[in-house]
Amino acid sequence: MWSLLVICVVNALLILNTGALKIPRRSTKVPPGFVTTRGREFELEGKPFAFVGANSYWLPLLLTEDDVERTFKTMQEAGVKVLRTWGFNAINATELTSALDSGLTYYQVWNSSQWVLNDGPQGLQRLDHVISTAGKHDIKVILAFTNNWVGYGGSDLYVQWIAGAGQPHDVFFTDPRIIASYQSYVKTLVERYKDSPNIFAWELMNEARCLSDTLPAGPNCVPGSNTLKTWYQQQSDFVRSLDPNHLITTGGEGHFYWKKPLEYWYNHTLVSDYNYNGQAGEDFDHDMLLPNIDFGTYHLYPQSWYSELDFPGSNWTVENWGLQWIDEHIQAANNIRKKHLCELG
Ligand SMILES: *[C@@H]1O[C@H](CO)[C@@H](O)[C@H](O)[C@H]1NC(C)=O
Ligand SMILES: *[C@@H]1O[C@H](CO)[C@@H](O)[C@H](O)[C@H]1NC(C)=O
Ligand SMILES: *[C@@H]1O[C@H](CO)[C@@H](O)[C@H](O)[C@H]1NC(C)=O
Ligand SMILES: *[C@@H]1O[C@H](CO)[C@@H](O)[C@H](O)[C@H]1NC(C)=O
Repeated sequence: MWSLLVICVVNALLILNTGALKIPRRSTKVPPGFVTTRGREFELEGKPFAFVGANSYWLPLLLTEDDVERTFKTMQEAGVKVLRTWGFNAINATELTSALDSGLTYYQVWNSSQWVLNDGPQGLQRLDHVISTAGKHDIKVILAFTNNWVGYGGSDLYVQWIAGAGQPHDVFFTDPRIIASYQSYVKTLVERYKDSPNIFAWELMNEARCLSDTLPAGPNCVPGSNTLKTWYQQQSDFVRSLDPNHLITTGGEGHFYWKKPLEYWYNHTLVSDYNYNGQAGEDFDHDMLLPNIDFGTYHLYPQSWYSELDFPGSNWTVENWGLQWIDEHIQAANNIRKKHLCELG
């Protein structure tokens, strides 16, 4: 849904000791070519791995292998080492005919009772080609499993079709039938690429929030309900149970849930800031502590998040908001002894 995306990641130092619970944990010795973390650094082949990244959700949607090849070549020439892209595109049966005509990449189609996998040449084989071409150009891929927003077969389709009309967006995170459907797709992707050193990390969802662009949040996804944190924990543990080696992260926007959320002046009125008051559903400081969240992500869209910026009667600007958002994530990372770095796309 967003045109310009900035992703920043915070590298986690994991806290061992999980008591009696048997939570699967990341392997301390990863295969050659796998990125891991050491203390507050990413690490590759025993050396700190610092990189410039790009974010191109559309790459697997390119129709020809030549276009994929050319895009990676250009990235490699620009020094890009990590690419974030999307591992999802699901369509409904009414869209199938036109998808087949246009050659659209799709991985799942809703057949009026369930998602049916497309692992053919117009489906996951396109993603296979993206992942292998990335490797040829010495680029590693961050792959997101699904979308908070309705676009590209995102979570509201699961909500509407599996839980039924009239449900709020956040049942995506709690309905066992939806979780089973999500996990079945996630398992397909993870098992397909779990041995590939071309994967940098898995992202559980693009920009998980209590609400979406088509459905509101319900009463069970409110500040303090921990709905997203619980889901992040379940799904990161699930992915870890399938894949001991790759890094896992949320894919979230990095919203905070602060006891004293920031406020700002807009048109001579003091406003409580959505990005800090927990309404979005994330709690960046605490989500990052989950045992199988290996680093944190955050995004920033100053102009679309804050029409108030630079408004007469507002006391701040796009620039000082952006710098502040970055500093706060650095600070959050430092507080829990984790390191941050950023990719811009
Ligand atoms: C299927 O997708 C088309 C195109 O996005 C949309 O117009 C239609 O409403 C969808 N059908 C259902 C049942 O959601
Ligand atoms: C949907 O697909 C599943 C799995 O292939 C199949 O069992 C089911 O009968 C299909 N349903 C419809 C309505 O086509
Ligand atoms: C804007 O005003 C709020 C409330 O008085 C204050 O907390 C905040 O620091 C101000 N921001 C800037 C950039 O001056
Ligand atoms: C700013 O506040 C004034 C006075 O309350 C109001 O009339 C006006 O619509 C507001 N403008 C915006 C853009 O919110």
